[in-house]
Amino acid sequence: MDHHLTPLDVTQLPSWNALHQHRQDLAGFNLRQAFSDDPERFRQFSHSACGLLLDFSKNLVRTDTLELLVKLAEEAQLGDAIKAMFRGDVINASERRPALHTALRRPIGDKVRVDGVDVMPEVHRVLHQMTELVGYVHNGLWRGYTEKPITDVVNIGIGGSFLGPQLVSEALLPFAQKGVRCHYLANIDGSEFRELACRLNAETTLFIVSSKSFGTLETLKNAQAARAWYLAQGGSEEELYRHFIAVSSNKEAAIAFGIREENIFPMWDWVGGRYSLWSAIGLPIAMSIGISNFKELLSGAYSMDQHFQTTPFERNIPVILGLLGVWYGDFWGAHSHAILPYDYYLRNFTDHLQQLDMESNGKSVRQDGSPVSAGTGPVIWGGVGCNGQHAYHQLLHQGTQLIPADFIVPVSSYNPVADHHQWLFANCLSQSQALMLGKSHEEAEAELRAKGLPEDEVQRLAPHKVVPGNRPSNTLVMERISPRRLGALIAMYEHKVYVQSVLWGINAFDQWGVELGKELGKGVYSRLTGQDEALAEDGSTQGLIDFFRARHRG
Ligand code: F6P
Repeated sequence: MDHHLTPLDVTQLPSWNALHQHRQDLAGFNLRQAFSDDPERFRQFSHSACGLLLDFSKNLVRTDTLELLVKLAEEAQLGDAIKAMFRGDVINASERRPALHTALRRPIGDKVRVDGVDVMPEVHRVLHQMTELVGYVHNGLWRGYTEKPITDVVNIGIGGSFLGPQLVSEALLPFAQKGVRCHYLANIDGSEFRELACRLNAETTLFIVSSKSFGTLETLKNAQAARAWYLAQGGSEEELYRHFIAVSSNKEAAIAFGIREENIFPMWDWVGGRYSLWSAIGLPIAMSIGISNFKELLSGAYSMDQHFQTTPFERNIPVILGLLGVWYGDFWGAHSHAILPYDYYLRNFTDHLQQLDMESNGKSVRQDGSPVSAGTGPVIWGGVGCNGQHAYHQLLHQGTQLIPADFIVPVSSYNPVADHHQWLFANCLSQSQALMLGKSHEEAEAELRAKGLPEDEVQRLAPHKVVPGNRPSNTLVMERISPRRLGALIAMYEHKVYVQSVLWGINAFDQWGVELGKELGKGVYSRLTGQDEALAEDGSTQGLIDFFRARHRG
C-alpha cells in the first residue's frame, strides 16, 4: 500500500469539512467555562506514558473535537503510515529511502529489513563499536600523541549532527562521567573556533568529525581548522589518528580527510540528520554520560515507539499532539508554536525541535509533488522559562496572534536551592493558567477600584490590563529528567512531527529547500573573494558584495 506516496488530500476527507463546521460551533468556546462546567476535564484530557504526563486539558477542544480529529487521522490512514515507517517502507519518496531512526533503538534480535537485508546486526555492531571507544576514552586507554589520556572531546558538526547531541549531553549533565568534557563546534565562524581552541590542549583533545554526508561546508572548514590547529600545537600527521575520528556515511571522504578506516563510525542513508542522535552521531552523548546511560536513552525512545504503535489514537500522546497542531494551524490560523521548557538542563530543547519540526514539515508540496492543500508546519520558537516570562510572554498573553504553547517541566530538581524549584514549577503552571484564564474588563476594573484609583484612572487603565485568555497550551510533566524520560520525550516529538506530515501528505524526511542557499553560497563566495568578477544576479547582493570588498580586513 503506497498511499503515503500518493497521499490522500486531507482537505477532501469528510472529517476535514466536519472539523470546519465544528470550528464554527466552537466560536464561543471558553476554557474557563469548560473547566467550571466539567470538574473531570483534567482527568479526561490528560494521559501518562513512558514516564511523561501530558495535560492537554487547556486546549480549545471538547470531547467531540477529539473524536473528529481522531476520525480525521483514521481517514488519512495514519495507522497504515505508522506501520509503514516502522516496517522500513520507502516513506521518504523524493530520496527513495525509508526513515528508520526507530530501528536504532530496537533491541537486539529484532529484525528490520532494508532492500531485503536485516539492518539490526549492523545497528548493534556499531553500538558495540561505540561502547569500545567510550570505554577506552573513559578508562584513559585512548591516548593522545604525548601518551596523555583524552580529557576533551570536540564534536565538529552542524544541524542534526550537532543539535540533538548537544541537547542530550547538556540535558543529562547530572549523569556526566568525570574526566571527559564535551564541546561543540558548529558554525563557520572563526570566533567560535578561537574561543573554543584557546580552552583546549591539543595533546588531550579528541575531535569527532560528525557529518552524515562529509560534504557540509561548515563542518569541513572547522575540521580543517582543527587539524591545522592540532599540527600547529605540536601534533604530527602520523599521530593524527589519535585525535580525529569521524561519524559518516561517506567513508571515502572521511578517509581522504586523513581519518583511519577503523575510526570511522558508519551512518546510513535511512537515518535523517535531525533523527540521528540515536546513531553514532550520538557519540558525544555517550562520551559524556557513558554507554549504559546512552542505552537508557535509547530504551526510553523505544518505549515511546511502542506507545506510538500500539495505543489507540484517542490515548496516543504523539498522535494527540500532532492532531492538536493541525487543529490550531489549519482551523484557528495559528502560525507558530512555542516550546517552553522550565528547566535549565533543557535549555537547548527548543533549538533541537526547531530543526526537527521545521526542517521536516516546512514543505509546500506533497509526496507526489502536487501542491499542499492545507497549511503545513508552524514556526517553532521559545526558550527556557522563567526567562521568557520577562521577554516574549507578553505577546503570548496580549498579542493579536493565537500561539499554542508546550510547557515542559520536571517535578524535582537535581540542584535544589532553597525553594527555587517550587517557584519554578509554580511559575510554569501560573503561565499556562494565565494564558487560559486571562483577565476580563470587569475584573481589571474591579482590581483597579480595589486599589482606590479614581474612576477616570480606572477607565483609562482597564483596557490595557485586559488579557484575552482562552489561549491553549499543553503541559508535559516528568519526575527528574533521566536518560530514559528524555529519550521518550524526544521520540514523542519525532512522532508528533510524523503524524502531521502524514495528515498533510508531505515528506518529513527530505530538506531540498536548504540546498538552494548552499548552491548560491558558492557564487557569492567567488565574487567576495574576487575569483569571479561577474555581477551578482541582483543589485542588493552586488551592493553588499561591494560594501564587503571595500572594507573587509580579515
Ligand atoms: O543543510 C541541512 C542539513 O542537511 C541537515 O539536514 C543536516 O542535519 C545538516 O545539514 C548536517 O548534515 P551532515 O551531517 O551531512 O553534515
